[in-house]
Amino acid sequence: MLSREQGSGVAAQQCDTYAWFSQRAWVEIDLTALSHNVQQLRRLLSPHTQLMAVVKADAYGHGAVTVAQTVLQSGASWLGVATVPEGIQLREAGIKAPILILGATHTPEQIHAIAHWKLQPTMCSPKQALIFSDTLEAMNHNSPLPVHIKLDTGMSRLGTDWQQGAEFVQLVQRLPHLQIASIYSHLATADSPDPTVMNLQNQRFCQAIAQIKALGIKPPCLHLANSAATLSNKALHYDMVRVGLAIYGLYPAAHLRSSIDLQPVLQVKARVTQVKTIAAGTGVSYGHQFVAPCELRIAVVGIGYADGVPRNLSNHMQVLVRGQKVAQIGAITMDQLMLDVSSIPDLQEGEVVTLLGQQGQQQISADDWANQLNTISWEILCGFKHRLPRVAVM
Ligand SMILES: Cc1ncc(COP(=O)(O)O)c(C=O)c1O
Repeated sequence: MLSREQGSGVAAQQCDTYAWFSQRAWVEIDLTALSHNVQQLRRLLSPHTQLMAVVKADAYGHGAVTVAQTVLQSGASWLGVATVPEGIQLREAGIKAPILILGATHTPEQIHAIAHWKLQPTMCSPKQALIFSDTLEAMNHNSPLPVHIKLDTGMSRLGTDWQQGAEFVQLVQRLPHLQIASIYSHLATADSPDPTVMNLQNQRFCQAIAQIKALGIKPPCLHLANSAATLSNKALHYDMVRVGLAIYGLYPAAHLRSSIDLQPVLQVKARVTQVKTIAAGTGVSYGHQFVAPCELRIAVVGIGYADGVPRNLSNHMQVLVRGQKVAQIGAITMDQLMLDVSSIPDLQEGEVVTLLGQQGQQQISADDWANQLNTISWEILCGFKHRLPRVAVM
């Protein structure tokens, strides 16, 4: 663990004392920002509403174990993952908190692992619930497995249609080896400024729950909200919220920026590996998609598309160098990219540049990349490859 100053240091010689600084490029994870975001979210929730931190996809690229440990210390009480191996990774690291598997699971191997590692699966259909029950029977599993009922209220992804929700819950309740731990649904448009579809999904969820209660079944825990719904409407918080993006310090939509103060957790940094001057008319990188309009000072930086910098950003991105935004030029290559650093002629090899993050007053965010690429910040965060070490700073 490094201090923020060590993490963002630019003096190469000074930094060489730290083994990880020998890296050409890395992802820095600010645990203070992560903890701050969880505390901000906690303040928004009523004391009885639990906070599930969604740490699937290696905590949206931030490193699942470190993130899980930090968010649990800061006010989250549940973890959400997509797959069984993601849950096992957290258990192997000694994490004891309840873990919900948000994805579908069916096979005997998955069911054995879920029971063994005390993970909690999502039940999406009667067929899946029967498979679980039969497999647990065959295993002589002696205590009921906590399961979470997923209703489809309009996302048209996993889950049983909300109109058959009561029937589904009744079936699962009668199965000997399963114990209903929660009933939940997922919102399709919570990040839209128009709440019509989100409200309709909520109405459907309420109606399904009313039908379930009318059967004399009291659901122990209800949850519906992702980051956007958590930030936009307290009426959707129910007993738990499932928050991903916001814990990583990004807003799911521009109109939600004023809701709470979030700080980006992830920064992407790399070193300058060579600095040189090129003459006017010189082409840069594969295909010469950039030709120097005049004499330029250029820097080669040791990070490329195989690290997760999208090649489609070629000639369309900026990078922070000594607190200034400079233009990236030419095609981004697999392991390297080039910058126009003519405004910083004394730039030295070994200096650290910031692709995503902050230097002084200047900032480049995952939203900037997402807007340029016509995608969403979630995809940008998940895109950084494991070739980039994750370095935690406080
Ligand atoms: C079922 C479910 N709940 C909650 C989340 C968290 O969403 P967000 O990152 O928008 O908070 C996700 C993420 O995709 C999800 O699939």
